[in-house]
Amino acid sequence: MNMNLQQQTEKANTAVQEKSKEIRTDYRLGYHIMAPANWINDPNGLIQYKGEYHVFYQHHPYDENWGPMHWGHVKSKDLVHWEHLPIALAPTEAYEKDGCFSGSAVDDNGILTLIYTGNIFVDREKDILDQSQCIATSTDGIYFTKEAVNPVISKHPEEGSGHFRDPKVWKHADHWYMVLGTRKEDIGKVVLYKSKDLRKWEYLGVLAESDGTEGYMWECPDFFEIGGKHVLLFSPQGIEADGEKYQNLFQTGYIVGDFNYDTLEFSRGEFQELDYGHDFYAVQTLLDEHGRRIAIGWMDMWESPMPTKEHGWAGALTLPRELSLTPDGKMAMNPVSELELLREKSIDLSIDKLDSESFDTGIREDLLEIKVDFSLKDVTADEFGLKLRCSEEGTEETVVGFDVTSSKLFINREKSGKGVSGVRKSKVELKSDTLTLHLYLDRSSVEVFANDGLNVMTSRIYPQTSSLGLQFYAKNGGVQIKDLNVWKLKDIWKERE
Ligand code: FRU
Repeated sequence: MNMNLQQQTEKANTAVQEKSKEIRTDYRLGYHIMAPANWINDPNGLIQYKGEYHVFYQHHPYDENWGPMHWGHVKSKDLVHWEHLPIALAPTEAYEKDGCFSGSAVDDNGILTLIYTGNIFVDREKDILDQSQCIATSTDGIYFTKEAVNPVISKHPEEGSGHFRDPKVWKHADHWYMVLGTRKEDIGKVVLYKSKDLRKWEYLGVLAESDGTEGYMWECPDFFEIGGKHVLLFSPQGIEADGEKYQNLFQTGYIVGDFNYDTLEFSRGEFQELDYGHDFYAVQTLLDEHGRRIAIGWMDMWESPMPTKEHGWAGALTLPRELSLTPDGKMAMNPVSELELLREKSIDLSIDKLDSESFDTGIREDLLEIKVDFSLKDVTADEFGLKLRCSEEGTEETVVGFDVTSSKLFINREKSGKGVSGVRKSKVELKSDTLTLHLYLDRSSVEVFANDGLNVMTSRIYPQTSSLGLQFYAKNGGVQIKDLNVWKLKDIWKERE
């Protein structure tokens, strides 16, 4: 480990530890990845290394607001129980003086290698940046050394600009490949590189770029094969809202296509959103030893209200989700099966037919998993669903519902508590007459996996600690429930204390 890096990470660890003693726990999550205190954003360096899952994240250890980026670090044997590790990276060198930005990790013959962006603000007001790509290595998976060859890519290609960041690296045949996000004027793009040794990189060209309507900057790209196709995941900035689509400040989505490693051509389809909730960005994936493509995103959105800041922390990552591609080119996301380990106890609840505008289940919990299958065969209601974190007097609730006439799933945050509001909708293309809903509630987060993972919504909510009710409802008619299961979930962070 470099001397300076050791000093800076130790200082940062101490700052976070100190701050963690002061944070308020009202909105703290029970089973999601968070820092012990202060700010986090993108997931970084997702990898299964020596049998354990490692997740790093963009972290500002000194404040609950974004600032000079460090890399925080957690690991897990089962994708459920996470353990905090010392901060892995701190900005110490001239080429990264304004932060160690997002990037990825690879296992290079037993050496855990992080590939990340060194950030320099040339003129912050005018948004002029000078970004380069760097590497840091570790043999124990905990302490890292920044290599003397840094930066390994010091300048952006002609087709890009100083906005040149978020390297995602993978191996194909006997070469490493890297995708990076960049922009030229107002066209967002992803560029491609190749290397034999992770240190010398050859520029191969533009993999894909905006057609003029798909954003001015493409952040956090990821590129992989799935279901016989190649998928480019990325987070574009600057796509205009279009009806119910692209409602958040920035988007995260994918394009499906075919890629040929010889000609380097990527014939691509259209951009599609991956998650339709209020809070999902900068997703990254890993391929694990079971061949699963697992995605984790940042469970917040730039510039959205984050009332947790007053409590000494901000930001969390989503649950790990397994990706799959349908034959018609749609990405499905479902919670990884290991999450069943979170179930503390099954709660007895039986509803065969729902025909009440407000059915109180009697359940009062803030850590829940709910699986429910609605039969749409003889549905007469024009809307149905459930309400989470309801207050006793009815002023607070978060509604997850289905509008039968328009076939839209929605999440309504108008009464979800402090700071937040707004409705998000997602068109459901049903394959049968059953609507499946799989929902995770974790105090200040809701993740809904509907229609077998084809309609996913992730949103943060900030109700009062006393708002704990769970209700079901159907409007102007009824709906049959085929199957219903509710579990109270564990708090993995409290278990560790
Ligand atoms: C995405 C992003 C990345 C960048 C990082 C900085 O949310 O803007 O492009 O590397 O955050 O924290």
